[in-house]
Amino acid sequence: MSVNKEIKKVTTNTLQKMKANGEKISMLTAYDFSFAKLFDEAGLEVILVGDSASNVMAGHETTLPITLDQMIYHAQSVIRGTHRALVIVDLPFGSYQGNSEVALASAIRIMKETGAHGLKIEGGEEIEDSVKKIVSAGIPVMGHLGLTPQSIYQFGTYNVRAKEEAEANKLKKDALILQNAGCFGVVLEKIPASLAKEVTESLTIPTIGIGAGGYCDGQVLVMHDMLGINSEFKPRFLRQYLNLAENIKGAVQQYIADVKSNDFPNEKESY
Ligand code: KIV
Repeated sequence: MSVNKEIKKVTTNTLQKMKANGEKISMLTAYDFSFAKLFDEAGLEVILVGDSASNVMAGHETTLPITLDQMIYHAQSVIRGTHRALVIVDLPFGSYQGNSEVALASAIRIMKETGAHGLKIEGGEEIEDSVKKIVSAGIPVMGHLGLTPQSIYQFGTYNVRAKEEAEANKLKKDALILQNAGCFGVVLEKIPASLAKEVTESLTIPTIGIGAGGYCDGQVLVMHDMLGINSEFKPRFLRQYLNLAENIKGAVQQYIADVKSNDFPNEKESY
């Protein structure tokens, strides 16, 4: 296999150095080869194969239905398109909760079968043993606190989390537990910016925010949301960089019109 020595691959050490140097980390989700290739070529540092694939790729209402096999399929496709970015894969619902042996087995399957560089797991104190076990097998783990979508039926809503003192205190404690258990970073989802700032300053590992304000060490968004593919979803935290839904629908409507009017294909487009 030939290795391109020009490419400086992003590693968990790179992210650690970026935090130390005050350089912000950019992360987006991707679920397939073509988008992963574009994001990698654009210079993104981290690609998350998120279990949000359950929503945006499979059309489920929540992230709960996606399986370990389906996450592995998405991760394999992303890895084929990536040469520089760090690729992190979500452990899906049911593949780790309540049993650190099962968590380790799921983690090993993803690492062995996809070639991904690390994993992300939702939760705090309750997953400490699993994080330690996975990290001790040499697998980099990213935590995920705040709004953890796999617990949506416990929360009841997708509203901002940890606005009350008790939940904020638990989140701060959980962040330190994850760091001490060996996590190389932690996603903070939909929490007040002031709390994210406190957590970011209390940790030596990077925090990556989504709806957690500008003090985090990096930011992550779901690609379908920021590219405007999923144009009905407009939460306050989202910045939409394109309106791809309109562009794609317009292009498809033009194609339909061209086919029906016999404009496509023309002579130059024929053999
Ligand atoms: O699955 C996902 O897309 C995520 C991000 C929202 C962080 O976990």
